[in-house]
Amino acid sequence: MRNKPIIAANWKMNKTPNEGIEFFDEIKSNFSGDQDIIIIIGIAFTGLNSFSPVPPIFKAAQNCHWEQSGAYTGEISVDMIKDCGADYVILGHSERRHIFKETDNQINLKMRSVTDKGLSPILCVGETLSQRNENMTDETLKIQLNEALSGLNSFSNLTIAYEPVWAIGTGLTATEDQIKSAHLRIKEILFGLYPNSDDIPILYGGSVNRNNASALIKVENVSGFLIGGASLKVDEFKSIINNVKDIV
Ligand code: PGA
Repeated sequence: MRNKPIIAANWKMNKTPNEGIEFFDEIKSNFSGDQDIIIIIGIAFTGLNSFSPVPPIFKAAQNCHWEQSGAYTGEISVDMIKDCGADYVILGHSERRHIFKETDNQINLKMRSVTDKGLSPILCVGETLSQRNENMTDETLKIQLNEALSGLNSFSNLTIAYEPVWAIGTGLTATEDQIKSAHLRIKEILFGLYPNSDDIPILYGGSVNRNNASALIKVENVSGFLIGGASLKVDEFKSIINNVKDIV
């Protein structure tokens, strides 16, 4: 693995700002100044301003609106996120796509807004179980990537997260072969869009935990993880980070 592994937490709609501070302090006391890893914490908007990032620990928002300001009640702009000191924005998560009916076109507008403002998108892609059963995994990844990245010339800040929908929050992890093949396909699609895209990190997400992290980080082209459930308990999250650090 050429780049430092990235371990990203996606807290989803969990943790009050105060609960987040407690967790952050614990991670900070264990990993601040660590040169071997990048840790990203995906926080609800309400907690985004509660603590300051300390390398290698960075903050991510979990969504944004594509407009910079205006009459969009309940929405949050990239400038607002940036002002809270976040460096990353998770976009296109399957819960946004499926529960909130976010379209590839909207994800593309958000990608443009995030990159225009100099923040780093973590773009989530992945197939549903029926798409996998119909042998549509490759095609799904191709459509999601092509549409989300349409018109984006710069890929320097881009991170991709491959998250098979059927593995998210289910306890069902994709097999090493399934992950290897999806990550390779993603690499090929990215290469078609951006020559020299070899360094774009591709995270795996879907029921990653302290027991499977060591094996999954060894899968070819896996640059790290996007972790939901197992990122909520600080001891479990620390174990995952330490397990990955032991391997790379
Ligand atoms: P999970 O969630 O680790 O709970 O499967 C991953 C995600 O939704 O990013």
